[in-house]
Amino acid sequence: MKAIAVYPGKPNSVHLEDIPKPSVGDVAGGTGVLVRVLKVGVDATDREINDALYGNSPPGFEYLVLGHESFGVVEEVGPHVRNLKPGDYVTATVRRPGGSIYDQIGTYDMTSEETYYERGINLLHGYLTEYFVDSSDYIVRVPPGLKHLHVLMEPISCAAKAVHQAFEVQRRMKVWRPRTAYVLGAGQIGLLATLILKLRGLDVYTLARSQAPTRNSEIVEGLEATYVSTTETPIESLIAKTGKADLIIDATGSSAMAFGAMKALGHNGVLVWTSITGGKKNVEVPSDEINIDWVLGNKLLLGSVNANREHFESGIKDLALGEVMYPHVVEKILTNPVDGIDNYAEMMRLLVEEKTALKVYVNVADE
Ligand code: BGC
Ligand code: ZN
Repeated sequence: MKAIAVYPGKPNSVHLEDIPKPSVGDVAGGTGVLVRVLKVGVDATDREINDALYGNSPPGFEYLVLGHESFGVVEEVGPHVRNLKPGDYVTATVRRPGGSIYDQIGTYDMTSEETYYERGINLLHGYLTEYFVDSSDYIVRVPPGLKHLHVLMEPISCAAKAVHQAFEVQRRMKVWRPRTAYVLGAGQIGLLATLILKLRGLDVYTLARSQAPTRNSEIVEGLEATYVSTTETPIESLIAKTGKADLIIDATGSSAMAFGAMKALGHNGVLVWTSITGGKKNVEVPSDEINIDWVLGNKLLLGSVNANREHFESGIKDLALGEVMYPHVVEKILTNPVDGIDNYAEMMRLLVEEKTALKVYVNVADE
């Protein structure tokens, strides 16, 4: 069967591979689930892998099959699979456990080991192919009523983890009642974080460079959050209006912005960094000012990567609630379909060149 792959370490090596079709029996213990892939989303991580800035192939392979944002339908299940049956819509988690205590309790997104295993990214093949198989432990059901949001399950799991971690860590405050949240970046993660924070009742300001109206600004407004173009309104002017933020989620993909955000956080607040920046950029920061401000304000910086099954499940619930609260808004994220695995070159072109592409995804097969 066909797969879209790269040679990690070799820039712009995206190509088609012919790989064997897996079967449920490939997973020991009878918990295998064979999934027929319907759609797979791609993001900046895939672009960076193709730029040879990130990612590794599995041991014994020269190539790495891409794709970590999966959506498919169950074709067959092993004898010990519970709660999943042929015909169910599903997605799959991305990271697989290593050996640390965190891995062993199902929180592989928090592994303490340097080496991490991620399907389609690091040391494991991904989902940009016709079928994949995995243990039911990593397969998450998608309600049929959300199938129009298909490839957003993985992205929202990352946003869900970031927000969840922020609330978890803020239990250090005996009372934490955040009111104002800034979301930096109006890409897929920024928009999905906007949704989750709105559903938690915060006043959400989503910041991006472009002047409204854009598709992104329309989505923000559709979620009843406030879109702020930093071209028109510098962050200082926003702070003058709203006060510093209690919670900031950076999803800009720019390390300069991630550091810049440190100026906008209020006392006792938390700043969450979510972007994967594969480059080697250096920025100058006002380190004395930030240092004193952060000490005097008991402020916290938190990195958040990946997501485990729990975050997929809570993200999917938020998508469902989002459909009821803000009907037909989130689907506007799904901007750029590519038809068929054969069109891998067009997929990469959109990812690299199409600045307005909010979400590029491949239609692998019809139902
Ligand atoms: C993926 C995450 C992954 C991260 C780092 C992101 O694009 O969505 O699942 O953990 O890259 O590899
Ligand atoms: Zn991703």
